[in-house]
Amino acid sequence: MATFTDTLNEQVRHEFAASQQYVAIAAYYDAQSLRQLAAHFYRQAVEERNHAMMMVQYVLDADQEVVIPGIDAPQVDFADVVAPVSLALAQEKRVTEQIVELVKLAREEGELVGEQFLHWFLQEQREELASMTELLSVVERGRDNLLQVEEHVARMAGGENPLEAGAPPAAGGAL
Ligand SMILES: [Fe+2]
Ligand SMILES: [Fe+2]
Repeated sequence: MATFTDTLNEQVRHEFAASQQYVAIAAYYDAQSLRQLAAHFYRQAVEERNHAMMMVQYVLDADQEVVIPGIDAPQVDFADVVAPVSLALAQEKRVTEQIVELVKLAREEGELVGEQFLHWFLQEQREELASMTELLSVVERGRDNLLQVEEHVARMAGGENPLEAGAPPAAGGAL
């Protein structure tokens, strides 16, 4: 049976895969000169990479074996400008379920330190689901007026993540 540490190592792979997917989305927007959407996803890619490295640090601190994973290729072709955001929202929903399952596993195994570590990620997922849901409605509404979408995304970037301060340490330092 998979242990908490095995499953956390598996989650490192999901976070790196999310990071790579966001780089692909950012490049897709960048190629269309949608600079604000591109910047938003480049930033999200770095955040996902940081999540992976926070989990790596946790496994190191717990004196367990770290397994740095290979990852599958991300999706790089999209039907229209809305599709990448739909994909991103689906990805965030999936990650939220994965984190919830990890919390349940931590509880089952009496890994209370691990459970406490994951609380920050639960909060982070709540915030990312909310902001990605907002972005999807903005892009859907503005698909025929992308300059308006760009302005909205530029404004969203202003109130950056209040959770950063309480974030767990990342291996090698957060970027
Ligand atoms: Fe993440
Ligand atoms: Fe995320």
